[in-house]
Amino acid sequence: MTAGKLIVFEGIDGMGKSSQLQLLAAALRQRGLPVVITREPTDGPHGLVIRDILKNRVRYRPQQELAAFIADRRQHVEEFLAPQLAAGNHVLCDRYYLSTIAYQGAMGVDPREIIAAHSFAPPPDLALLLEAEPGVGLSRIHERGDTPNDFERLNYLEKVREVFNTLSFPFIRRIDASQRAETVHRQIVEATLPLFGEPRP
Ligand code: TYD
Repeated sequence: MTAGKLIVFEGIDGMGKSSQLQLLAAALRQRGLPVVITREPTDGPHGLVIRDILKNRVRYRPQQELAAFIADRRQHVEEFLAPQLAAGNHVLCDRYYLSTIAYQGAMGVDPREIIAAHSFAPPPDLALLLEAEPGVGLSRIHERGDTPNDFERLNYLEKVREVFNTLSFPFIRRIDASQRAETVHRQIVEATLPLFGEPRP
């Protein structure tokens, strides 16, 4: 059995990652590919701590946030990602370690330190980095009736975006998320199919 592919969705808040992930999962399943979906922060015990952090950020320091996200990811890799990939399932993950580099990096942690702390994490086969101005994301978040949390403040997201912009891993594909959802989806499918030996549509 060949190992599954790890495809991650990254970008600042409100870029449409979660809905694009669902659309890609459906498109791949339609082609008969075995796909599982997941997200970070997870719903596990460390994920609960992270949700508390997201609500009460003033009580936590960047290094504590970093430790929580890494602990959550370590458990996710061990208990879910690695076994699924080994079983030949393709994994679509909503956020992965590029988010930590960008979000905790934007809080002042050295991105090199964050990268070094992830030697346990398999690199993704493809990271779809959905990009647009933070204002685009924030207005979408307001439209869907959600109240932006601390993490969703414009200045902070500007900084997060700047860190995302500096990343040059070979597995990154940048997609313009300000386009119509159908267009974004088509570009995501085009970027993804070559991983499965299928030509671009
Ligand atoms: P997410 O669940 O994607 O947001 P939403 O609740 O809007 O769907 O992620 C929650 C927040 O956590 C998001 O603002 C990004 C942040 N985050 C980090 O700061 N570091 C990380 O490593 C990850 C995975 C997320």
